[in-house]
Amino acid sequence: MSSNRQKYVLYFENILEGSVSLSELKADISVSERKFFNMLFMSAFRHLTFIKTEVLPLFVKKKIPNKQKILKSILYLGITELLFLNTPDYATVNSYVEIAKAKTDKFGANFVNAVLRNVLKNKGSILSNRKNKYFSSDFLKILKHDYTNAEISEMEIMANIEPPLDLTFKSNVSLKIDDGFLLPTGSLRLPAHTHVEHIPGFSEGGWWVQDAASALVVKCLSDLKEKKVLDLCAAPGGKTAQLLDAGAFVTAVDISEKRLQRLNENMQRLHFSENLKIICADALKFNTNEKFDFIVIDAPCSATGTYRRHPEIMNTKTLDDVLQQANLQQKILNHACQFLSPKGILSYSTCSLSKKEGEEQIHHFLEQHNDFEILPITLALDDAMYTKERFLRILPYHLKEFSGIDGFFIATLQRKI
Ligand SMILES: C[S@@+](CC[C@H](N)C(=O)[O-])C[C@H]1O[C@@H](n2cnc3c(N)ncnc32)[C@H](O)[C@@H]1O
Repeated sequence: MSSNRQKYVLYFENILEGSVSLSELKADISVSERKFFNMLFMSAFRHLTFIKTEVLPLFVKKKIPNKQKILKSILYLGITELLFLNTPDYATVNSYVEIAKAKTDKFGANFVNAVLRNVLKNKGSILSNRKNKYFSSDFLKILKHDYTNAEISEMEIMANIEPPLDLTFKSNVSLKIDDGFLLPTGSLRLPAHTHVEHIPGFSEGGWWVQDAASALVVKCLSDLKEKKVLDLCAAPGGKTAQLLDAGAFVTAVDISEKRLQRLNENMQRLHFSENLKIICADALKFNTNEKFDFIVIDAPCSATGTYRRHPEIMNTKTLDDVLQQANLQQKILNHACQFLSPKGILSYSTCSLSKKEGEEQIHHFLEQHNDFEILPITLALDDAMYTKERFLRILPYHLKEFSGIDGFFIATLQRKI
C-alpha cells in the first residue's frame, strides 16, 4: 500500500512545484492503479485549498521547515484520503506515517501520525463546517481582474460538481445512447465517469469526446464545405474532426509531435484522414504561399476554464502564466493572419477565463489590424453567454441545470479586403 503512495507523494509535490503536469504523470500510472490514482489526485487537488486553509491550521501550529517540505504533500494526500475517500482509516494513517519515516525522520513520522489522528478524531465536525473553498489565492487573483465576487462564488461552487462527459457526433450519425441527453448547444452529455470504450459507436468512429464549450468553436463557422482551413493549434484534433465533418480541406498544424500522433490516430478512428494535411511546426514559424478561407486558432492558454476537469489548475496557475500565454497568443495571431484570404474568417478561442487571453487579446489585435472586423456570432444560445461584441464568453456555471460547462472564449473576425 505505502510503496505506491510514496510515489504519489513525490508526484504530488512535483505537480505543485510545476516541474511536471498531472496529464504527463498519468502516462506512468499502470492500468491497475489508474482508478485509485485518479480518485486520489482529483480529490486532493479539488480540496487542497480547504485542507490548507481550514484543516491544517487546526492541528499544525508551527511552520513546516523547508528541508522537510515533503511532509506537506504527505499530509495533503493523507488528509484527502481520510476525509474524502473510502480507504480504511487506520491503514491509511499507518501508510502515510511509514512514508514520513522513510522520507524524513522519526520526528516527521510522529508529527504526521499526530496530525492525521487528530483529523480522524474530528472528521465529523471538519466536514460539517466545510465551506465552498476551492480556489487558491493565486487563482482568485487571476479571476478578480475580470469578475465580480458573486460571479467568482458561482464559479467556485461549480468546482465541486464533477464534469460530465460530452460527445460530438458526426453529422450523419444519430445514435441513441442510454443515460445521454442532448444539450442546447448540440453536444450529447453523459454522466461523469462514463467509460468511453463502452459507449456504442466507439470503434466505428461515430463520435468523439469534446467538451460542449469547445465544440462551439467550429459551430460558430458556416459554409465550410470545400473551403481551405488552417487549423493552427490543432492537436488532439477535436476541432479538426468537426472541420473535416463539415467538408473542409484542413491543414492541421501543431508544435507537439506527440499530440499530433494522437490527432492522427483520432482522425483514423473517425475515418477522417482524407482532405487532411498534418504539419508539425511552431505556429510562429509556420510558412506557406497558400491562402486560407478560414483560420482556426484554438490557442495554447492558461486553461483556467477547465479547472473542474483539471483541478490541479486551481492550485498551480498564476497571473504570470496568464501573461505568458497572452503574449504567445498575441504573437500567433499576428503571424497567422497573413495566411488569410481576402474576406477570410479568423476564429480565435481559448479555454481561459482571463479576459487578457480573450476579449482584451482581440481588442488589441483589432487596434493593430484595421483590415479586420468583428464577425458577430449568431448561434442560438442564451444571451448570458454573449459579450456585447457578440463574442462568446462561456463560464463554468452556464448550463448549470445540466451540471455546467468548461469556461471558454470564442471570437470570429473577418478580413475586410
Ligand atoms: C488548446 S490546445 C488545442 C486543442 C485542439 N484545437 C482541439 O480542439 O483538440 C492548444 C494546442 O496548441 C499547441 N501549441 C502550443 N504552442 C504552439 C505553437 N507555438 N505552435 C503551434 N502549436 C502550439 C499545443 O501543443 C496544443 O496541442
